Amino acid sequence: MITMKAIKIDEPWSVECVEMEKPTPKNGEALIKIVSAGICGSDIGAFRGTNGLVSYPRVIGHELAGVIEEISPDNKKGLKVGDKVIVDPYLYCGHCYPCSIGRTNCCADLKVLGVHIDGGMAEYFCHPDDMLIKMPDDLDWTLAAMAEPLTISLHGVHRGGLVAGEYCAIIGAGPIGLVAGMIAQAYGAHAILLDLVQERLDFAKELGIEYVINSANEDPVARVSEITNGVMAQQVMECSGANPAVRMSLDLVSNAGRVTLTGWPKKETPLPTDIITRKEIDIRGARTSAGEFEEAIELIRTKKVDVSKILTRTVSLKDAPEVIKDIEKNPGNYMKVVVMM
Ligand SMILES: NC(=O)c1ccc[n+]([C@@H]2O[C@H](COP(=O)([O-])OP(=O)(O)OC[C@H]3O[C@@H](n4cnc5c(N)ncnc54)[C@H](O)[C@@H]3O)[C@@H](O)[C@H]2O)c1
Ligand SMILES: [Zn+2]
Ligand SMILES: [Zn+2]
Repeated sequence: MITMKAIKIDEPWSVECVEMEKPTPKNGEALIKIVSAGICGSDIGAFRGTNGLVSYPRVIGHELAGVIEEISPDNKKGLKVGDKVIVDPYLYCGHCYPCSIGRTNCCADLKVLGVHIDGGMAEYFCHPDDMLIKMPDDLDWTLAAMAEPLTISLHGVHRGGLVAGEYCAIIGAGPIGLVAGMIAQAYGAHAILLDLVQERLDFAKELGIEYVINSANEDPVARVSEITNGVMAQQVMECSGANPAVRMSLDLVSNAGRVTLTGWPKKETPLPTDIITRKEIDIRGARTSAGEFEEAIELIRTKKVDVSKILTRTVSLKDAPEVIKDIEKNPGNYMKVVVMM
């Protein structure tokens, strides 16, 4: 048996770098030598046991980039051995109702790497060859691993139909919200980022986010009103997963505005729906992404969104378990960590 190293969570609170069988590609799959893999909040959730969708044991990792080692010569995308690729990690059935209208991210049978099925934080990984995106040759490996989280934020921007000149209030200055702010500005909108943690807001300011609001000690509604001359934000992106933030989105949005919900709250949020009626708010869910990797890669390559600024550090595969434990304990010390094989 040929083996490889992989990061496996046997059960909540037990993460290890294990030796396991190297996979062999099935029909329609490519074998990829993984080079970089981002650690995501959802990997930490899998470690903590707080992500109800994760089944165990599970190899984590869905923010993946690598080099093709084996692929069918007649693959649909014309990819070749040696090509550098980024993995689109949301596998869909292709024939349910959402798939039939191109909303493959809402597939009734969606399978996300590292959640429903094994991920690729490993030396090798097999993946459907039509779910690989060729990456520019000169793109840095650490940045390539950040394309996936960028697609999440980008999908929220797309779901809300953000256009240049608008105000976009984003609640939560974690990796998802920060990147959403950078994308909003790349789209020519005015980003207003809200958080309760001052360090995160100071960091956002350093990244060039136009407006930041600490909603723990400032009145967010009054501040957004002041910034927008009373109009309020045409789009509000909920990127914290906090119930009070979901509630607050209705107060920050303009009349006829849009609210996109990217955060995953753990509990139900009671909402005064009269506000939704009165303002005629469009509330839209935003889950993973669909067909948005190419644009994400282009935003990274052209540095319109400089994701290198949110990279905290890189780590070897062997040291990844210790770092995962430390991120769980001290989340405030980290934005994005990328594992280099
Ligand atoms: N929809 C998807 O496909 C998808 C994908 C990835 C992540 N997510 C979700 O997006 C959210 C953000 O992810 P992340 O990795 O950036 O998380 P994170 O935990 O790093 O960031 C969340 C931020 O929200 C802030 N926050 C908490 N409560 C707040 C409040 N009441 N008001 C303002 N700010 C508040 C926190 O201080 C933190 O800075 C999470 O809920 C995550 O589960 C969704
Ligand atoms: Zn992720
Ligand atoms: Zn489907």
